[in-house]
Amino acid sequence: MSRKTIPYFVYALLLFNSLAARAQKVIELEGRAGVSIRGLSVVNDRLLWVSGSQGTVGRSTNGGASFNWLTVKGHEKRDFRDIEAFDAVTAVIMAVDSPGIILRTFDGGASWQEVYRDSRSGIFLDAMSFYKDKAGVVIGDPVEGQFVLLQTGDGGRTWHKPAVAGSNPPVEGEAFFAASGSNIQALKKGRYLYASGGTRSRLFTPGAVFDLPLLQGGSTTGANSLAIRFPNRKNGGKYWVVAGGDFTKDTVRSGNIAITRNGGLNWTPASVPPFGYRSSVAFIRGQKMISCGISGVDISRDGGISWTNISTTGYHVCQRAKKGRAVYLAGGNGRIGKLVW
Ligand SMILES: *[C@@H]1O[C@H](CO)[C@@H](O)[C@H](O)[C@H]1NC(C)=O
Repeated sequence: MSRKTIPYFVYALLLFNSLAARAQKVIELEGRAGVSIRGLSVVNDRLLWVSGSQGTVGRSTNGGASFNWLTVKGHEKRDFRDIEAFDAVTAVIMAVDSPGIILRTFDGGASWQEVYRDSRSGIFLDAMSFYKDKAGVVIGDPVEGQFVLLQTGDGGRTWHKPAVAGSNPPVEGEAFFAASGSNIQALKKGRYLYASGGTRSRLFTPGAVFDLPLLQGGSTTGANSLAIRFPNRKNGGKYWVVAGGDFTKDTVRSGNIAITRNGGLNWTPASVPPFGYRSSVAFIRGQKMISCGISGVDISRDGGISWTNISTTGYHVCQRAKKGRAVYLAGGNGRIGKLVW
């Protein structure tokens, strides 16, 4: 290829990517005005649960055409930043701030049992992830010099501290964002990846800790979300994508995506990054990905290397169905969206 043709080739590729991405759009569903939604759990194409501020939980059994909304009794002021649903009647929700609590329902949200409580000062649970509906993990900001980690082996009925905790202490000012419930991902029982932010942004893996090439150094910077390319392969195929940035500079297009294909040894920033800070990132099929944040929604067709924006409407969280292909989004002012793709 001659030097001269390279720019045209790149231009054509970008144009093609952009046209291909435009075929995809987010349609807005009926949401819940006044509630900030950051918890999203898409069980299958028709069944999804959401959770958020003011003790709110919503559930749709018809692909988002309508939602049943409820306020968790006795927890009307709590912000449920993450939810994991297993079917139409069973789900676990996690509240941020103090006391740290985890609740579970087995009757579609009619009643909730408190399955965990931590009243230590400074407790702040951030995110939750499950492997095959039974093995779950929760991370929280450091208390007494250690990250908070909790595990369950029975689908969230009981929680305990992992056998080996605190081998990787945080640095001063390093914590987690409770932005989308996706900065921790369970790889299998007892093995998980989680990504920090603040003064440092690092990825913690079962064997090692890696520095991430994301914006960091302040209290609003760092990793917010983590996506695994091959959830059924050992260590997710070692292909992981981390999203973040600085939520106070939500349109800055740098330091917001990092990709590794070898389990964290080497990291590549996106060559055409998403249009700003991104609080959530997910693989949707093959190399196709979605990311979202308060400044909009982007699509990648090449495993996170280049991104095209498809909307400037903000969402906090995006996720593909655990069993299915539907992709839903949720965000501020109770907004709920569905990706048409
Ligand atoms: C992509 O982002 C730019 C800059 O914010 C904006 O002008 C444009 O309308 C966006 N495109 C879409 C499809 O939303």
